[in-house]
Amino acid sequence: MASVPSLASSLHQRLADALSAALPEAGAADPLLRRSDRADFQANGMLALAKKLGGNPRELAGKVAGGLPTGELIDSVEVSGPGFLNITVTDRAITETLAARAADERLGVPVKEKPGTTVIDWAQPNVAKEMHVGHLRSAVIGDAVVKILEFAGEKVISRHHIGDWGTQFGMLIQYLMEHPHELDHKAAEDTEDTTASGEEAMSNLNRLYKASRALFDADAEFKDRARRRVVDLQAGDAETLALWQRFVDESKLYFYSVFNKLDMEIHDENVVGESGYNDMLAETCRLLEESGVAVRSNGALCVFFDDVKGPDGNPTPLIVQKSDGGYGYAATDLSAIRDRVGELGADSLLYVVDARQGLHFKMVFETARRAGWLHDGVKAVQLPFGTVLGKDGKPFKTREGETVRLVDLLDEAIARATAVVREKSEKLGLTDEEIAERGTQVGIGAVKYADLSTSLGRDYVFDLDRMVSLNGDTSVYLQYAYARIQSILRKAGDSATAKAHPELALAPAERALALHLDTFAETLAEVAASYEPHKLAAYLYQLASVYTTFYAECPVLQAETPEMVENRLFLCDLTGRTLHQGMALLGIRTPERL
Ligand code: ARG
Repeated sequence: MASVPSLASSLHQRLADALSAALPEAGAADPLLRRSDRADFQANGMLALAKKLGGNPRELAGKVAGGLPTGELIDSVEVSGPGFLNITVTDRAITETLAARAADERLGVPVKEKPGTTVIDWAQPNVAKEMHVGHLRSAVIGDAVVKILEFAGEKVISRHHIGDWGTQFGMLIQYLMEHPHELDHKAAEDTEDTTASGEEAMSNLNRLYKASRALFDADAEFKDRARRRVVDLQAGDAETLALWQRFVDESKLYFYSVFNKLDMEIHDENVVGESGYNDMLAETCRLLEESGVAVRSNGALCVFFDDVKGPDGNPTPLIVQKSDGGYGYAATDLSAIRDRVGELGADSLLYVVDARQGLHFKMVFETARRAGWLHDGVKAVQLPFGTVLGKDGKPFKTREGETVRLVDLLDEAIARATAVVREKSEKLGLTDEEIAERGTQVGIGAVKYADLSTSLGRDYVFDLDRMVSLNGDTSVYLQYAYARIQSILRKAGDSATAKAHPELALAPAERALALHLDTFAETLAEVAASYEPHKLAAYLYQLASVYTTFYAECPVLQAETPEMVENRLFLCDLTGRTLHQGMALLGIRTPERL
């Protein structure tokens, strides 16, 4: 659809416009218009405005109320309390506004007028290491934020800053050199099954890691050879690099299998790990030292901050280069900023990284500002997320006290969800294959939703019983609401179509549903501006709830008149499309039958 019809602006927007027209002397004053339970909307801005203009707020509110035309858009206006305006809109305006939205593919959600370029750093596992529960949130939140920003019209470039460099590779490479067949594929060779080959890749890497570690600890000569191998790696020795590459490739095979299970698309060109910035590290350090942003302290290149001190009261510096000449995590991140701003043209940098790395990013951003790599036109934001906890309220561990493998967690979620789907779907007569497919969509959706419905900074308890529950704030509840809508639309078949009838009066549950549908675009704009997917999750949950009430109170196919049937089908259809779009932005599937 080329242009969004003007009616597709929300009721909220239309009311806000009417309020400013009724109050020209107020200029750009915010009417503080909100959805309200007392009327449809309440405007509280008259209080602040009366203060500014030096008058009585109730009087001012009365004057504005008198100036608001009733009829087309507004049904009635009432002054209440110290000077609030309670505004009720007409049923006609509600249905017309929604009809205009429904006619638009984007459901009336505008694209940003001035889209920028965002580079977002998310899903960053480490090479030759198992992905654990700690890697879940970055992937889930990052994927949702990418989708939300792209839908808003922003140009988004993903960067998966995987841990693919460091001294630990000396030991691994040396071992592989001495045992050349340890990474060969056996079982899953030539298979299309990404899960099997991913699992095999990881078990190879694990086995190799354990064996090389054991040798490293037991055999002093091997230890020596491993240490020399680090030097070769850093010097860029071709044979050493080729073996290092095998670890990276093997790990990617595994990462992709996990992302695939998570129902996420990760593109190879966006996997730019720590090693991707190796060529810039020396220059980054030189520039910092020359400009005086960093200084040598006991041989190390450090950046100091007035407000960053250790427990002993001494300043804790950001170490860019260690005294032995090795470059640290910070040097890589600073180089990445130069690349992302200078080469990729980012005006927003996002980092979906554990809150525990907050101090690191604070220091890195501040350093980059001092060095001029982050100038005024660029914002850098960490989206710091909290920890996934076990039922005991402590960071999630296995009974043996080990970190939980992400794959195991996902498999368990899928198994639980499949059981729920199987039980519920008896009437539907689904095949085993269909049950398995939906079980996967429900299970993965449940894990993602539990994560995304929690505000970023908070910790949450990983509780599968709650996550796959049919009642409450879960994705399953939303998926069932969607499937129920699809089943109604199927039942209507050719005998009745979804069609808006603005001439009809609306029942209370219809109005509540319609008014909530109307706020979709504003919710998305807010979510995209604040990077808070949990607000979208809350919107969708509320949508499913008001729909459930509507469904209980307003018969759809059995409504009194054919026009009412059509208008209710219209509300069902728009609710379904809104749920589908919103869930898709969270990376969650909405099966048609459940
Ligand atoms: N690989 C790191 C870890 O597992 C996360 C990397 C975050 N991104 C960054 N640019 N530092 O902790």
